[in-house]
Order: sequence, then C-alpha cells, then structure tokens
Amino acid sequence: MDGTVSDEPSDKLGGDHVHVRVPAKINLHLGVGPLRPDGFHELTTVFQAVGLYDDITASAGTPGPAIGLSLSGPEAAGVPADERNLAWRAADLLAKHRRGSRAGVALSVSKAIPVAAGLAGGSADAAGALLACKELWKLDIDEAELDLLAAELGSDVTFALHGRTALGTGRGERLRPIDTPHEFHWVLAAASAGLSTPAVYRELDRQRAAGSERTTAATSAGEVAPLLAALVAGDYGALGELLINDLQPAALALAPQLSRTLKAGTEAGALAGLVSGSGPTCAFLAPNRIAAAAIATELKASATCRLAIPVVGNVHGARVLASP
Ligand code: C5P
Repeated sequence: MDGTVSDEPSDKLGGDHVHVRVPAKINLHLGVGPLRPDGFHELTTVFQAVGLYDDITASAGTPGPAIGLSLSGPEAAGVPADERNLAWRAADLLAKHRRGSRAGVALSVSKAIPVAAGLAGGSADAAGALLACKELWKLDIDEAELDLLAAELGSDVTFALHGRTALGTGRGERLRPIDTPHEFHWVLAAASAGLSTPAVYRELDRQRAAGSERTTAATSAGEVAPLLAALVAGDYGALGELLINDLQPAALALAPQLSRTLKAGTEAGALAGLVSGSGPTCAFLAPNRIAAAAIATELKASATCRLAIPVVGNVHGARVLASP
C-alpha cells in the first residue's frame, strides 16, 4: 500500500475530503485447491493490479457515528448503497475496530470497475474505504493491522491495498510481493451479465465431484516459479504460455458465450487470453501498448463483449490522492 502521492497530480489538496484511488485486479494463475471446512478454497494465485480504477472519497458526515454512501460512475448501476456494500462494511469494521472513535463518514464511490466481473471491484472499494477512513479519522493503524481488517472483509481486499504483482496463498489473502520492474499490457473484455463468485466455485466443485474437471493449475506456491520468473524477466512469450485459471471451465459452463470472446481476442492478436478470477471478464495479454489498443478495437467490433478496455498491469494499490 502506498499512502502518499508521488507521480500523479492530486486534486484539492487541503480540501475537506480524502480521495483514494484503487485498481482492479486480474489473476494470471489461479490454482484452486480443495474446499476447506470454512467454505473457502485453498488457493495459489498470482494477482496483478491493472490500471482500471474506482475512486473513493470520504468526508466528515453528519455529526455522530453514521455511515453514508453514495455511488456514481459508469459501472455503478445495480450496486447497493447500503450495508450490503463492501465499502460501507469496511468503514463500519474500522469504526468498530477502533471503538471510542465516534466519528461518522460520508463515502462516495465512483465506479469504473465492472461489478461481479472477476476484477475484484467490490474488494477495491473496501480497500479504498479502509484507507480513506483511516486517513479521515487520523487513526494510528499500521500496515499489518490494516491487512488483517482487509482479510476479514474479503479474500481479495488485502491485494487491493497493495497492488502491483503478488503471489497469493491461503484463501488469497496471504501475499508475497513479486518484484518486477516491467509493465504488462492487457485488454479486459467485460461481459454484459455478471457471474456470482460463490456460484462459480460451486460449479467447479460440482464438476470435480462428477469427475469432469481435474485440477489443471499448480496449487502449491513452489510450482508457479516459471510464471514468476517470466514476470520478473518481462518475458511476454513465456507469460502467455503460462496463464491458467482453474475456475475457467466452471465460468464457461455458466456463461458459454465466453468461449467466443476468448476466440475473438486471440484472433485479434492477443498472445493469450483467459477468464479473470471467477469471470466473466476475459483478460488478453498484448505484446505492447499499440497492439493492446488494436486488440480492444477488434474485440469491440466482434460484438462478443460489452466493453473492451486496454489497461497496463503492475500498477500501484490503494493510495491517497488528496487529504485535508
Ligand atoms: O472472500 P470473498 O468474499 O471474495 O469470497 C466470495 C466467495 O467466493 C466465498 O464466499 C466463497 O464461496 C468463494 N471463495 C472460495 N475460496 C476462496 C475465495 C472465495 O470458495 N479462496
């Protein structure tokens, strides 16, 4: 996590609100192990933060401990603006964690990350709200403590705080940063209908029980070494060969039209493509920025997706762009 601004212009420094920007993520490797007694699956995953962002602002609300939430932006439709929202829950968790702090907050979330898309948009909003409220309420909480709260909110929230590229284990919340100086070019193809993450995991369990799907991705951290080496070396060719997602067959079973999207992306010149997380967004690796723009244009023309967005991978995690 990076709590200061360095290479981006800040808005309204000295204003009355905290502004935090948080990226979406894709999974370059998603090895799904067995279902645990707590209802989660043991994962070995490689996350990468990509340059598609939600913006969260936090300002002092009406006097008292109330949490207010408003939503805006191109992907806000259908997102609840109440306690079902992960940003709301993040503010509530932080307030309860620091009992005695009776401050409230007015949160506003501007959504550019599609919802129920496999891009951890809800997790991004939770991470943004945690960081924004910590700043607004001037809480003395260190990174490790914030990471624990993040993990309580969801498996991907800790990664949203940290960004860049990381190996995730446990249910995805235990992170080891993968230090690579390279940027990577991707095209995200968003679908018109979302997929429920629990439903996709359930479908994988069903397929496995029926014997129709075996684990294909490595589920132990040591086995992802070739992928990590490709990331560190910036070796796009090797990276394209190594992308894998155990949830992809389940996502394709629930949304069969995604196989057309995957085909359209590779025909448009992508080095490789895969379903991101539990889907339905597909992520395509492009050889460079110009190719990414061209692939996005072709994907849009193919009418196999709702949106095609070129993005840069290995960007920062949640960070404060403005603070009172
Ligand atoms: O942690 P998060 O709220 O993102 O998880 C949503 C759902 O996805 C969980 O309730 C669970 O059904 C499924 N999941 C899982 N194993 C994981 C992460 C998520 O089964 N490691």
